[in-house]
Formats: sequence, C-alpha cells, structure tokens
Amino acid sequence: MDRRFYITTPIYYVNAEPHIGHAYTTIVADVLTRFHRLMGYETYFLTGTDEHGDKIVQAAEAAGTDPKSYADRISALFRETWPRLNIRHDDFIRTTEPRHVRVVQHILQKVYDKGDIYFDTYRGHYCVGCERFITDRELVDGKCPDHDTPPVEREEANYFFRMSAYQGWLIKHIEQNPDFIRPERYKNEVLAFLRDPLEDLCISRPRERLSWGIPLPFDERFVTYVWFDALINYVSALDYPDGALFRKFWPVAQHLIAKDILKPHGIYWPTMLKAAGIQPYRHLNVHGYWKINEGKMSKSRGTVVRPLDLAPTYGLDAFRYFLLREMVFGLDANFSEDALVQRLNADLANDLGNLFSRTLAMTSRYFGGQVPPFGDPEEPEDAELRHLLEQAVEQYQKEMPQLGFHKALMTVWDVINAANQYIDRTAPWDLAKDSSRRGRLQRVLRTLLELNKTVAVLLVPFTPETAEKMLFRLGVACNALDVRLDRDAVWGSLREGGAVEKGEALFPRVDLKKIASDKPLGKKDAPAVAAASAPKATRETPLGVQDGLIGIEAFQRLDLRVGVIRAAQRVPKSKKLVQLTVDTGERRQVVAGIGEHYAPEELVGKTVILVANLKPARLMGVESHGMILAAHDTHGLRLITTDAPTAPGSKVS
Ligand code: MSP
Repeated sequence: MDRRFYITTPIYYVNAEPHIGHAYTTIVADVLTRFHRLMGYETYFLTGTDEHGDKIVQAAEAAGTDPKSYADRISALFRETWPRLNIRHDDFIRTTEPRHVRVVQHILQKVYDKGDIYFDTYRGHYCVGCERFITDRELVDGKCPDHDTPPVEREEANYFFRMSAYQGWLIKHIEQNPDFIRPERYKNEVLAFLRDPLEDLCISRPRERLSWGIPLPFDERFVTYVWFDALINYVSALDYPDGALFRKFWPVAQHLIAKDILKPHGIYWPTMLKAAGIQPYRHLNVHGYWKINEGKMSKSRGTVVRPLDLAPTYGLDAFRYFLLREMVFGLDANFSEDALVQRLNADLANDLGNLFSRTLAMTSRYFGGQVPPFGDPEEPEDAELRHLLEQAVEQYQKEMPQLGFHKALMTVWDVINAANQYIDRTAPWDLAKDSSRRGRLQRVLRTLLELNKTVAVLLVPFTPETAEKMLFRLGVACNALDVRLDRDAVWGSLREGGAVEKGEALFPRVDLKKIASDKPLGKKDAPAVAAASAPKATRETPLGVQDGLIGIEAFQRLDLRVGVIRAAQRVPKSKKLVQLTVDTGERRQVVAGIGEHYAPEELVGKTVILVANLKPARLMGVESHGMILAAHDTHGLRLITTDAPTAPGSKVS
C-alpha cells in the first residue's frame, strides 16, 4: 500500500487577514497530516499565499502601498499565524517566488507548444471579485452571486486555454473515480456543470491593464490570469517537473478547499494538468462554509472571527477540537462563542477531563501513582469496554481518511462516556475498602489507564498538546509527532509499576456568566472582531496573570508593529501631544505624549514600535489609533526603534 500522503490548502489571497475560514481549512489539513503520520505515512503538507492579480493591486492601493510590500506584509501574517495554531506545514509557497514563476512559465510554454493555448478576442461580463469573465448562466438578477455586484462589460484580445477539448475526458475521469471529488454532493455539482458545453478559459490579461502577474513566456505583452498561475503552486512547490518531491508526492496528491473555489479546482485544474501531461490529483476534498449568526462573515458587520483572538482565550486545543467536531465536513456550520464554550465545558472539561482526572486520582490514591498489574481475570463488563474501544479504533481509522472527523470524534466520545459509566458502575472506591477485592480494583484501574492511553493516541491529530500531556502523565514520554497508532495504542503497553502523574485538570471549565462585557458575535453594535477579540476574563486568572506574572499567551495578544513616522505636528493647545502619521504598511493617525522631548520635525522618518491593536482613543479631540513605545529615565524619554532599517508593518515579538 502507498504510505505517502500529500495535502494542500488553497493558497490564500493576501487581500485579507487570516480568519476562522482560513484557519479551519488549514487546521483540517494539519489534522489529516498528523493522522497519516500516526498511521506511519510519510507526509507532506503545503500551504501558502496567492499574491498576483487585480484584487491584490486594489487592496494594496487602498492601503496606500505597492503590491509587493503589501503582499509581503499580509503573507507574513499568514505564515506567522499557522504555527501559533499548532499547524505544522512542510512548506509555505508564495506565488511571487521565483521557484513558482519558473514552473508557471514552463507549463504555459508546454501547453502553448502543444497547441492548447491560442489567441482570440473575447467580449463578455467580467467580475472583478472573481477575476474572471462569467457566463450569463451564472448571473443572478444580473449580478455575480458570489460578490453580489454587477459584472462589467469587457472586450479583450487574449490567450485562451482549450479547456473544451478536455471536457469529455474529465467527465469520464470523474465517473470512473467516484471519490475524485468528495463529498459526493460536490462531485455532482461539477458533473452538473459539465452537462453544458465547456467554454475555453481566458488565461491572460493585457499588461497595460494589469502588470502585477507572471508574464506569458511566449508573449510579454500579457501576464497570466491569476487562477492559471495560482493552481500551479501545487506542483511548483514540489519542484515540478524533475524534483524528487514531485515524484514522491504528486501521485498521492489531495487538495482541500471550501465550496467557493470548486470550479477552478474541479474543472480548470484537472484539465490544465491533462493538457500539461501531468496525472490528475487523487482527491479534491471540499468543505462547507463557516457562518456567523447564520450569515456570511463580513468585515463591515464586524463578524470576522480571527483565530488568534480565540485560541489564547479558550485554549488552542479547545479551538481545534471545536472546529473539527462542530462542522460536518462538506456542510456549512455556524460559529458562535457560546457553542464553543458549550463544547469545551461538556466534551472536554466534563467528559474527557473527568475521565482522565478520575482515573489518575484513583491510581494515585489506591496504587501510589503506579500503573497496577492487570490483577483479576477480565470480567464481562471489562471486556465490553475493551471491545468498544477496539471498535472505536477501527471506526476512527475508517472515518479519518474519508474526512468524517466529527464521526471519528463521536466514536471516541462514545468510549469516553462508556468509561465514565464504567467507573460509576464498578465503583472503585468501594472495591478499595475491601482488601480481598484488590485484584478486581487492579483490573478496573488498569483497564481505565490503558483506555485513557488509547484515547490520547486517537486525539493526537486533533488536540496534539493535550494528547501529549495525557501521554506524558500516563508515563509515556513522547512528542505528538512521533506517536504511532500501531505501536502506542497497543492494549497492555503501559509499563507495570510505571509512574503516573495526577496533575491539574486538562481543560478548566469556562464560565460564560463570568465573561465580562460579552456581546454575541454579529450584533450590529459589536465593534469589528470585538466579540471574538475582547480580552475577556473567562478564567479564574484573566489573561493568565498569576502572581503578577503573565503567560506567553497574554503577551501574544499585543500586536506590536514596526512603523515609520511620515508626518508630525503638534496638537493645538497641548505642550505634550503630537499628532503623527505612522506608516505600518497602512497609514495610521497616532497621538503621542512626546511633545516635550521631541520637536515634530525631528520625528519624521524615525522608525518606531507601535502597539497596533489598542482600542482607538481621543486625546484632546484628536483620534489616536495605537501607541508608540518609549523608554524613560532621569534624562527624559527616548523612542524605541530597530537597529537597522525594517519594513513598516513588520511584527515585533
Ligand atoms: N487564492 C484563492 C485560492 C487559490 S488556490 C490555488 C482563494 N483565496 S481565499 O483567500 O479567498 O481563500 C479561500 C479559501 O479560504 C476557501 O476555499 C476556504 O478554504 C477558506 N475559507 C474562506 N472563508 C471561509 C469560510 N467562511 N468558511 C470556511 N472556509 C473558508 O480563493
């Protein structure tokens, strides 16, 4: 059997910061990768950013900067976000990298030489949001249904990819490989689309209209259409055509996307591959959309949920668990913090947390914290629980590769719940009172310890930190990435006499009532992202402050950025206040109390460090969006700066 696994996420546009939708896809890719490692596969996980095209040019213009600097800044945000969600990707590709540009041009030339790219004039409806011409059939009330905007009429001489020539082949391929696109509803959607004749795909943009793209190798007056460019990342990152990674991983390639980009992945990409003489990917895995209050996430309504605002508040593993447990892969799901808290309290703190802490507390109380021998022979209730666990392990292995994450988790939770009932039924506390029943007590606790160990192993892909913690406390020192199901979930593999550690609760309960100034997500009056990002006192120790010390999570809530002062003037009637225009990739107005230490003209051009996520405030009638950092001593005040020129917007950590 092929024990290699290659998964990709979409490469995200750099016109928006990472939100929960991006996080979901990338976490799913991480869970799948970790699952395949657990099964002993050699894995490769690719993500990255999509940086060319109209959209990016417009976003850069709106931010008052050039496309490259803009892309650098937002791409860095994505790159920095993933490790903080415990995502371990192997590569992060940017479409502006030379290694990608080279492969795009290579493939274009190959398809052109073959005669599958031709020059022609086209007139039609162009949607700027989709960055493509859209057909009459796709319009709803004269508007693009995805962007709710009317398309613009455009006529252009361009290059076209002869996609129509591959329609018959694609239909056949999908029919012969029923899990090529999954779940089935999306396969059907693609097949329904293919019932009508497929039009050829316009794959160029005249340079005079759009210069931010990859030049066509056979006609420098044009750049490549962003989708033709972007899709190729999946092979350029593997160093197509001659790279060892390509040879090793492309034959097992799986893509992960949401339904919004089904057409480019389900139709353009396989036909492009066919034309370029590359075998098709193995699976296209398509999930639904996260909605907020049953609506689309929207910047203007303040319902964009940022993963890094949630993870530190509720814990990374709780956040990952929630996303994977709540959404049925393929269907839409609704996100709310209430739902997250409910799952955290019920599934993690109660069911899992109680099982684990009861098992360890009793091992500690009755066996001095050492793994007991199996003791008396197995009784029917012990065997029943063990069988349930075995079945769960089997079911889990069936569900995971076919994206049934919520079902895999439900199966694990059936075992957890059964084990909690087993504790209630066998009442180890009563057995402990009777020394003649010591052997039975050993059997019960050893059964529970072995079960907890296997549960921890099954949780490795979903909640790696917790799984590691559980295994460690059961005396199995390990790194989550090195755990293997066939070796580490073996019944009886705990070392008899090995020490276990009682420790603290795995998941402290979160008290919703304690959540200060809570506003449900999506309320009109909730400030953008505030419901998700407000520093809520959700725990006994808000922000993890303990004995005056803060955890790294508290520090990470600060968004510190490098800024360059572009303009400065005194705030009228104030000796102290100076109004600054600070360039952090975008222009911000900041009011600083440094007027007694610096003249405005001295400040222009200085590099400073800015707290970028401070709530806006008004100082003597002037709005301030951030605070710049300074050091004070007896000689006065000095601004904090960097020791060499640093790009505005760079993150400080
Ligand atoms: N750049 C293209 C993809 C090119 S891939 C060769 C693009 N970028 S995107 O930034 O718009 O990302 C779209 C993807 O982000 C979706 O397919 C999905 O993976 C994720 N999501 C964005 N919003 C989402 C939700 N609300 N819910 C779930 N996933 C979502 O399209």
